[in-house]
Amino acid sequence: MKLLVSAGPTREFLDPVRFLSNRSTGRMGYAVAEAGVAAGDEVALVSGPVEIAPPAGLAALDRVVSARDMLAALEKRVEWCDALVMTAAVADFRPESAAADKIRKGEMPETIRLVRNPDILKTLAPRKGRRVFVGFAAETRDAAASAARKLAAKGLDLVVANDVTAPGAGFGVDTNVVTLVSPDAPPESFPIATKRDIAAMLVERVRKLLLRQTESSLA
Ligand code: PMT
Repeated sequence: MKLLVSAGPTREFLDPVRFLSNRSTGRMGYAVAEAGVAAGDEVALVSGPVEIAPPAGLAALDRVVSARDMLAALEKRVEWCDALVMTAAVADFRPESAAADKIRKGEMPETIRLVRNPDILKTLAPRKGRRVFVGFAAETRDAAASAARKLAAKGLDLVVANDVTAPGAGFGVDTNVVTLVSPDAPPESFPIATKRDIAAMLVERVRKLLLRQTESSLA
């Protein structure tokens, strides 16, 4: 399988030293990439700024900063892949403009105007074809219901919902608590497990979905 994985946060700069971002460390996405490599898949990783080392054996690694950079990198690689797993925590908004020089304290505006970033999954949706597209959903309440809405809105095959307020789940830890939400089955919840084990399970799910989609397109 040719697996394209996005990981980490994006940074949306206000000036050369200040940015809007989130708490993603890349652990979940890097675990998915590593699980793909371990299973013998070709893996391309598109990563926002993180501190951890990339897994060995990647077919490609693109380091990006902003949501728009991440979209551009994924647009270049999407035709190549059989499956896309978007674990990245993409910033939904960015400052309307970024100053070329550091904004001095006295010059700082009282309000910062934000504009919407592109939705990467929605932008790539017309190029999905027979590919398997998986999203993650970082939720703080009603994780499965909200993930089901994202599944439909983004035209995905699977959403991995994680309640990022649950102990041992979400940002910055080596474990996660996930619920798989798909269009044709009831939500499936898993007990707390390492991101490594969840990633290995997920890669095999993606492989099955790909096989099913390939078979149904041949039938
Ligand atoms: O990196 P870690 O510290 O290990 O933390 C892991 C994680 C909590 C970041 C990860 O498990 C996770 O939940 N990732 C998705 C976070 C997120 O952005 O969720 P969302 O509900 O805002 O977005 C839903 C889906 O749409 C995601 O697949 C996201 O990549 C995608 N998206 C979001 C915004 C946007 N502009 N374009 C997108 O494609």
